[in-house]
Amino acid sequence: MKIIVANWKLNPATEKEAIKLAKESDLEGLVICPPFPFLEAVAKVIKKAKLGAQDLFWEEKGAYTGEVSGSQLKDLCVEYVIIGHSERRLKLEETDEMVAKKIKAALKDGLKPILCVGETAEERAQGKTREIVGKELRLGLSLIPGREKEVIVAYEPIWAIGTGAPDTPENMLEMVEFIYRQLMSYAGATVGEFKNSKTQKLTNSLKIIYGGSVTSKNAEDFLKHKEIRGALVGGASLNSKEIKNIISVSKKYA
Ligand code: PGA
Repeated sequence: MKIIVANWKLNPATEKEAIKLAKESDLEGLVICPPFPFLEAVAKVIKKAKLGAQDLFWEEKGAYTGEVSGSQLKDLCVEYVIIGHSERRLKLEETDEMVAKKIKAALKDGLKPILCVGETAEERAQGKTREIVGKELRLGLSLIPGREKEVIVAYEPIWAIGTGAPDTPENMLEMVEFIYRQLMSYAGATVGEFKNSKTQKLTNSLKIIYGGSVTSKNAEDFLKHKEIRGALVGGASLNSKEIKNIISVSKKYA
């Protein structure tokens, strides 16, 4: 089954609205990631959707004002956690080293990490997309050798986030292949083995999803490809009709 991740970001304003949106979007195949204060309320009303968080901290407890640990999230029935979103990297100066510690902490606490990677418009114009994404993968996964395939990788070109202008499916497919190859090289497979049967099992077990201006209008362009295992949806996830339509598309191509 494909996975659709609803990243609500800093929305909605009230718990009442969060409960309403969660009830209306409670669908199989969806992971709802509300802001921290609404996790518990959302957990109580969803039956088919899964619960995700938008971040976590790498320490379990102690003098870390404002932070939230993986075990605290787990205690609230959270199953997934978004890590290294570009908004945190760019606006809050989150580094690859911090991302790596968060990925390790998430796995330690039994959460499924969703690692976000992607280049800015400037980096893309300079032909640095693979260099940037390769570095984010290598460093982000550096503390969990051998467990890379437990991480869902969300390729989110930063220039496509919240702009209404998604990446092309063709470019996305090239990036999926690039990411597969990177991940497999960590797992000891060589680039040449990418499509042969020996590594096919590993390829199938990796989950690479796309994010950046996904809506019900363009979801099919991405989700119809078997290599693209799902989508990370921001703006459109605040509209339950949009989410319903995106989930129906994803079911078609499970
Ligand atoms: P968007 O956000 O769907 O609004 O572009 C995606 C994201 O930030 O993950």
